[in-house]
Amino acid sequence: MCGIVGYVGPSADTKALDVVMEGLARLEYRGYDSAGVALVAGGQVETEKRAGKLVNLQEALAAHAPAPAATAIGHTRWATHGGPTDGNAHPHRGGPEGKLAVVHNGIIENFHALKNELLAEGVTFTSETDTEVAAQLLGREMEATGDLTEAMRAVVNRLEGAFTLLAVHADAPDRIVAARRNSPLVVGLGDGENFLGSDVAAFIGYTRHALELDQDQIVTITPTSHEVINFDGTPAEGKAYEVTWDAAAAEKGGYATFMEKEIHDQPHAVGDTLLGRTDETGRLVLDELRISEEQLSAVDRIYVVACGTAAYAGMTAKYAIEHWTRIPVEVSLAHEFRYCDPIVDDRTLVVSISQSGETMDTLMAVKHARSLGALTISICNTHGSTIPRESDAVLYTHAGPEIAVASTKAFVAQITACYVLGLYLAQLRGETYADDAKAVMAELQQMPAKIEELLGSMDRVKEIARFMADTRSVLFLGRNVGYPIAMEGALKLKELAYIHAEGFAAGELKHGPIALIDAGQPVFIVVPGPDTPHDLHKKVVSNIQEIRARGARTIVIAEQGDEDVVPFADEVIRVPRSSPLLQPLLTVVPLQVFALHLSTAKGLDVDQPRNLAKSVTVE
Ligand code: M6R
Repeated sequence: MCGIVGYVGPSADTKALDVVMEGLARLEYRGYDSAGVALVAGGQVETEKRAGKLVNLQEALAAHAPAPAATAIGHTRWATHGGPTDGNAHPHRGGPEGKLAVVHNGIIENFHALKNELLAEGVTFTSETDTEVAAQLLGREMEATGDLTEAMRAVVNRLEGAFTLLAVHADAPDRIVAARRNSPLVVGLGDGENFLGSDVAAFIGYTRHALELDQDQIVTITPTSHEVINFDGTPAEGKAYEVTWDAAAAEKGGYATFMEKEIHDQPHAVGDTLLGRTDETGRLVLDELRISEEQLSAVDRIYVVACGTAAYAGMTAKYAIEHWTRIPVEVSLAHEFRYCDPIVDDRTLVVSISQSGETMDTLMAVKHARSLGALTISICNTHGSTIPRESDAVLYTHAGPEIAVASTKAFVAQITACYVLGLYLAQLRGETYADDAKAVMAELQQMPAKIEELLGSMDRVKEIARFMADTRSVLFLGRNVGYPIAMEGALKLKELAYIHAEGFAAGELKHGPIALIDAGQPVFIVVPGPDTPHDLHKKVVSNIQEIRARGARTIVIAEQGDEDVVPFADEVIRVPRSSPLLQPLLTVVPLQVFALHLSTAKGLDVDQPRNLAKSVTVE
């Protein structure tokens, strides 16, 4: 997830740089590991770009003021391909003399093949990004056609994946051409000036008239016009609307808090984490891992090390990885792993999971594992952070920056990345379940739509949360993959609403926790799908009966069509059906929404709960 801004004004107007820099500041929540601008003036395109926060770019521009311009594009980056360096920062140049500049949000899945084609033709590259491939292709097409819109159309039809592209060219100084597929882009309509942005926050200081584009459309803006076409060249029209949000709400996509926005980002977090991980035959390809297949095939034991929500992602993934690979997986809280004398050797794979990549406990665990000879893979959301650098390899999640302290979209992205890793290991080992990899990947591809559907049906959950604002204790039960989800539900409630909450394995109830059940005690129960092996569904339904009989108020999370739970549920929250191992990507959503709305009902600070930091950088 990156932030993109474009501005084109009257030729006498030279405010383009200011508009774009202001837009980038408003979009920094979308990515902040590097930033850059391209300005078109005097028959040239001038670029400036810097790794790090926007302030680094501001300093560079102050030290070396570019020529005044009426047309500019800008980018604030959250790295996906290539680390956060000056060279990988956008814009990227293309064409002879670098007359073209491009900024990009998204992932071009077939960039390896396209890059190889260009390399074979003698094109040289200056970055490790997928974006530069698009820039080079566009530069060449522009040379051939002399029309930036036509050049864009030719190129986007060769690209696979998700992308928003903005392009400017020295020979077309009064225009910006932009294209989108599965990645956001809005047009801002001004008076004698027009704007582009990843969202309306980019231009809210200048205009409230906006134009929404459909998928697979190209828009060309000049100071006085905007023209929309489909990728096939047919004319199209965007949908005009008025922005009613203020600037602060615009950054949050119109949601009241970053957490709410991030909960709604989850379909993208899962979808983007799956992008580019299979080849055209459907086989998993994880080139980025850069660990030899021999080394990975020799692995006979896996440790997952992580903290908090990331550790629950690991616990969820354990069930799937063991099932698919038959390799024993132990999940260890990073701070416990570090000091427990773990049994590790060169056939042990230690997978760390961290959104920030800076959690000190996890970092120490990784360093310790390496010192013991283990192979280490980091599953991480933040390019250029410390844990990936200290690991042998990294598999990035593509959730985009997570601002709210409580982790939500990073969690579903972490589970997704673990599934991808598990299926890849199964494929390498030729295990029986390798054959299922394609089917599982196909089902994973449907998860974003299912999460979207689920998010659209949360009204009752919000009501329940409001009614429960005075509740002092909530219990969560789950079994198998539902067990870590129960613990995650409890953690969300603790950190957001400061309510005592516990997550238990449902089977453990009768071994002690059932003593906590009293009249009116609210209990959430995550019910496995009716097809879950070993009659687990039936067993959990029995657990619900047991606690209901003792007075519990049962709030049941069950799949659509599961009628067995109805007689014993005070409330039923429905989730779309899925295969048992993938269900956590859905069942966690109502629990996040519940915690968010209970916290809101109590008037608490959802994004920055008391006593907590987003990244815990001390042991
Ligand atoms: O950045 P990390 O994923 O390494 O952070 C790990 C935990 O500190 C984090 O998940 C924490 O538990 C969250 N506040 C949970 O919402």
